[in-house]
Amino acid sequence: MKVCVVGTGYVGLTTGVSLAFLGHDVTCVEIDQNKVDMLRAGRCPIYEPGMEDLLSEAAPKLNFTTSFAEGVPGADVVFVAVQTPSSPDGSPDLRYLRTAAETVAQHLDHTFTVVVNKSTVPIGSGNWVDAILRDSFAQCEDRREGCEFAVASNPEFLREGNAIHDTLYPDRIVIGSDNPRSLEVLNQLYRPIINQTFTAPGFLPRPDDMAAVPLVSTDLASAELIKYAANAFLALKISYVNEIGQLAGKVGADITEVARGIGLDDRIGSRFLEPGVGWGGSCFGKDTKALIATAGEYNYEMPIVRAARDVNERQRVIAVERLQDELRILKGRRIGLLGLAFKPNTDDLRDSPTVDIAKLLIARGARVRLHDPIAGERFRREYPELAPHLTETIDGLFDDCDAVVLVTKWAQYLEMDWSKFVGLMRTPILLDGRHALDAERMTRLGYRYLAISG
Ligand code: UDX
Repeated sequence: MKVCVVGTGYVGLTTGVSLAFLGHDVTCVEIDQNKVDMLRAGRCPIYEPGMEDLLSEAAPKLNFTTSFAEGVPGADVVFVAVQTPSSPDGSPDLRYLRTAAETVAQHLDHTFTVVVNKSTVPIGSGNWVDAILRDSFAQCEDRREGCEFAVASNPEFLREGNAIHDTLYPDRIVIGSDNPRSLEVLNQLYRPIINQTFTAPGFLPRPDDMAAVPLVSTDLASAELIKYAANAFLALKISYVNEIGQLAGKVGADITEVARGIGLDDRIGSRFLEPGVGWGGSCFGKDTKALIATAGEYNYEMPIVRAARDVNERQRVIAVERLQDELRILKGRRIGLLGLAFKPNTDDLRDSPTVDIAKLLIARGARVRLHDPIAGERFRREYPELAPHLTETIDGLFDDCDAVVLVTKWAQYLEMDWSKFVGLMRTPILLDGRHALDAERMTRLGYRYLAISG
C-alpha cells in the first residue's frame, strides 16, 4: 500500500520506518529540512536503539521529503503524527495538527484515503480533524472528482527506547473509525503485523511466545479513549506501588518484595509495579492531565487519575526530603544526580524527575551535579540555565559529594564498579531512586544506602 506519514518525531518516524520495512511504499513528510537531510543519509535525529538499522533495511521503500505534494497524492493512508506540545495552560497546542490537516486536504487526490490521527490529541479530535479536512478540501479550487477520504484513530502504545519492538511485536493494535471502509484499509495495512508474517529484522528477533496480534477495531471515540485510559492506568499502577512503597517504609516492609508478591497475581500482573521516583516522559503526565481536562468539559471529576498525578509529584519531593532527613541541612551540600533522561535508553528529557529534583534541591540551597551517559548534549540545549551543573565523568559527579542519587536506571550505572567512587565522597550517602541497586552490597562497599521507598 502507499503510505504517507506527516511528522518524523518518535511516533511518526517509527511508524513510517516500520511500515516501509513491512513492504509498504512510505513517504515521510517533515517540514524541517535538516531532519530530512539526516534521515536521507540514514542517520536518526532521535536516540532510539535499532532505528538506524531499520532505516537501512527499509531504505528501498522509504522516502523523506519536505513536500506534501510528494507524499499525499495517491496515498491509501496518511498518518498525521505532528507534535502537540503543551500550551502554557496545559492544554495541547493543536496548531501544527491544524496546519498539517489543512495541507493534507489540499493534496488529497485518491479514490479513497484514510487520514489517521496519530498525534496524541484530546478525545474528540478525530471529529475536529475531519471538519478541518472537509473545510480545507472544499476550499480547493481544483476539487478532485471521485476523491474520498475518512478519518481514523490508531493510537500508539510504543515505549521510547523500545519503539521498534513495540511496533513490530505489539500486545494489540487499536483502530477506530466511524467509516467501515477505513477500518478495512487499516486492517489490510497491519496484516503483516497482525499475522506476524514478516521476516523479523536480524537485530530484533521475534519473541518466542509471539502469537497473532489481537486487533481492536472500533469506533472513533472509543479508540481515542483507549489511548488515554491505557496510559492513565499504567500511570496509576506506578503511583499505586509508590504510595504503598511509602507505607512499606513506615511499617518496615520491603516494597520490592511487596510488589513481587502482588504482581504474581495474574489479575494484577508484575509490569509497571517498579517503585521509584515515579514516571516522567511525554505521555503519562500529559495524558493524565488531558483526561482530567476532557472529563472537566463534561463537569465530571476523575479523582483516581488526579491522585495518581499527585502521588507522582510527591515522589520527587520525597526524594529531596529523604536527603534532608539524612543530611539535616541541605544548604551548601553537594548532591550528585545520576541520570537526566526520564528513563534509560532515550535522551528524552520531557517531565524528567531529575530536573524537578535538581530544581528543588537548588531552591533549598544545595549545590547540584548532574550526569547522563547520553542526554547531556540535549540537556545543554533544553535547559541552558542548569547546564553549568553538568559533569562529564562519573568520578567528577561523586567527587566531594555529600550524597548521590540514582534517578535514571541506565545499565551503565547499574553495572559500574561502585567501589571506585565511595572513597571520593565527603559523606557516602547513596539514595537509590529506583530500587535498582543491591542494598547489602552497597552497604558492604561503605555506602550509607537509602531507598526512595522504605
Ligand atoms: C509510555 C507508555 O508505556 C506507552 O504505551 C505510551 O504510548 C507512551 O508512554 P514511555 O513514556 O516511552 O511510554 O515509557 P515507559 O517505559 O512506559 O515509562 C514511563 C515512565 O514510568 C518512566 O519514567 C519509567 O521510569 C516509569 N516507570 C515505568 C516506573 O517508574 N515504574 C515502572 O514500573 C514502569
